[in-house]
Amino acid sequence: MSITVKPLDAALGAEIIGLDVRDISPASATALHEAFLKYHLLVIRDQPITDADLVQLGQCFGAIGKSRMVSPLSGRDDIMVISNIREDGKPVGQLPDGEMAFHIDQIYREIPAKGAALHAVEIPGAGGDTMFSNNVAAYESLSPELKKQLEGLRATHSFQYGETQRENRDQAQERPHYTHPLVRRIPENDNRSLAVCRLMTDQIQGLSDEDGRALITQLCDVLENPANVYSHQWRVGDTLIWDNRCTSHARTDFPSTQRRLMKRVTIKDEIAPLG
Ligand code: OGA
Ligand code: MN
Repeated sequence: MSITVKPLDAALGAEIIGLDVRDISPASATALHEAFLKYHLLVIRDQPITDADLVQLGQCFGAIGKSRMVSPLSGRDDIMVISNIREDGKPVGQLPDGEMAFHIDQIYREIPAKGAALHAVEIPGAGGDTMFSNNVAAYESLSPELKKQLEGLRATHSFQYGETQRENRDQAQERPHYTHPLVRRIPENDNRSLAVCRLMTDQIQGLSDEDGRALITQLCDVLENPANVYSHQWRVGDTLIWDNRCTSHARTDFPSTQRRLMKRVTIKDEIAPLG
């Protein structure tokens, strides 16, 4: 059966209808990859799947990376468990609690993730929505003068594991960091995408701290403008796949008293962001 790609009534994203994630034909895999490039975010609903199925789905978009922690709730090293569930008081997953500021996964590394697929197993009664910005549309919306000003600029990003808000940083520690073009080119279609985010972008090379922060804030405000964001309210059995080169994402708060359990695979990129 062929799949239907239905654009969301939103700034980005498309729902994939008619896909059996347990049995993806080569033609469907190609259609999924095309939709991924065009819409930056894919939504698949109502399909509870196994860890092995999630890995196979992720492989339609690239090779799957290893998780930094193997969770007892999966046992696989290619599945990242994102959960606030605790055993003996310790989280059995990563990114356990509450709100997270907008970020681009692994943008502080030399080769950040190309994307990820995230699957909902248990969700709280309210909150814990995941929000996505369209970083291609945001770039396109900038004035010609501002686009000109961004040409050739490079930004430095850093992250310390566990941070969810910029204000909560431990400044004393040496932080994993990397510098990338502020506007990146997507090789498959020559799209331009803003590689900047509230949580991880620290400074812009060649600008004073003050001017750099002002420009970062200005661009993050454009990215996070509600008109440029799709907010996903999860249902059990949903899977979202995002192009991490063309989006940033954030999470809304949710009650610590309610369980949230998500499984994720990380899609690796092969090359560092292009200028
Ligand atoms: C992630 C992430 C948000 C969420 O998987 O990279 O940021 O909604 N998850 O749990
Ligand atoms: Mn993330």
